[in-house]
Amino acid sequence: MATASETKATRRDFLYVATGAVGAVGVAGVAWPLIDQLNPDASVLALASIRFDIAPIVEGSSVTILWRGLPVFIRHRTEAEIEEARAVPMADLKDPQRDEDRVVEGHDQWLIMIANCTHLGCVPVGEAGDFDGWFCPCHGSHYDTSGRIRRGPAPANLVVPPYEFISDTVVQIG
Ligand code: FES
Repeated sequence: MATASETKATRRDFLYVATGAVGAVGVAGVAWPLIDQLNPDASVLALASIRFDIAPIVEGSSVTILWRGLPVFIRHRTEAEIEEARAVPMADLKDPQRDEDRVVEGHDQWLIMIANCTHLGCVPVGEAGDFDGWFCPCHGSHYDTSGRIRRGPAPANLVVPPYEFISDTVVQIG
């Protein structure tokens, strides 16, 4: 049975052989199969974006899902949480960003963020900390109801991944 390194070597060898053939046959005809081999396979592409039904997430609760191996928070915020986030003066923020710029207009109640503390990557605890948002117990970083860093060693806000609403109840991340 071939080991992983033997398989890699075989594949690499094949690429060398095939590359060698390019000169003889012509770039246009052979380049595409080579590039195609280097593309991620279908299973990897399937993980590049995910669709998630947010309808069951009731106001005031959150779920954590996995996207590209990363945990992602999806929080259905209350009106009070949104108001609290929007009342904060920019001067109070370590990484100034308006709450409006961290959500999709018209879907302001939904806050979607990569769930890794921007200090060293721990997963913060929700509905915790001094600013009613998230608290990272690893070294004591406090995030507000917009996921913005407010206190502690983390240098930046929780990261908002690329996403869009496919409908009012389905979001596509990635
Ligand atoms: Fe969160 Fe250090 S990893 S505070």
